[in-house]
Amino acid sequence: MNILPYTIDHYDDVMALMHGTSGVAIRDADSRQATERYLARNPGMSFLCIDAGRVVGCAMCGHDGRRGYLQHVVVDAAYRGRGIANELVESCLAELCKIGIEKTHIDVFVDNDLANRYWTRRRWQRRQDIYRYSLNRSGRESA
Ligand SMILES: CC(C)(COP(=O)(O)OP(=O)(O)OC[C@H]1O[C@@H](n2cnc3c(N)ncnc32)[C@H](O)[C@@H]1OP(=O)(O)O)[C@@H](O)C(=O)NCCC(=O)NCCS
Repeated sequence: MNILPYTIDHYDDVMALMHGTSGVAIRDADSRQATERYLARNPGMSFLCIDAGRVVGCAMCGHDGRRGYLQHVVVDAAYRGRGIANELVESCLAELCKIGIEKTHIDVFVDNDLANRYWTRRRWQRRQDIYRYSLNRSGRESA
């Protein structure tokens, strides 16, 4: 198994992994074009775990120049509990650290028990002091 930077040629495999995973919402913002833009804007910051040519894990990571953001941290169910998410996340955080960004956020659905347990056990702070407000000007719920 290898942890490698996410390049767009793996897009279809990553989407297949995400579509097969509950707790992950796929939006228009996950289109190939948007993903390509995201990877170009945050070069070398997102990682995949690849086993025998198959994508079995993913962590997408970017920043706004000030804070880091993780998205779509997903591991194939058959590969969980082996520290793959830890490795993927650590790879992302190490890249952020190289450019001086030490604080990172991730959004997790309130009802995603598995993910909420995962982040809590790694001492990520569950914020009680912030509401996230989102405005969607597209009029499409899927955006
Ligand atoms: C959350 C998720 C990414 C964790 O992936 P994972 O690769 O199983 O995570 P890890 O293996 O790093 O850690 C999970 C457990 O495996 C165990 N583990 C960690 N490293 C291990 C290792 N080297 N060997 C054996 N077990 C290990 C730990 O006990 C850990 O349990 P804990 O969380 O109770 O501490 C995965 O469950 C998943 O894809 N969930 C569905 C998608 C999702 O909801 N993503 C989150 C969106 S924010």
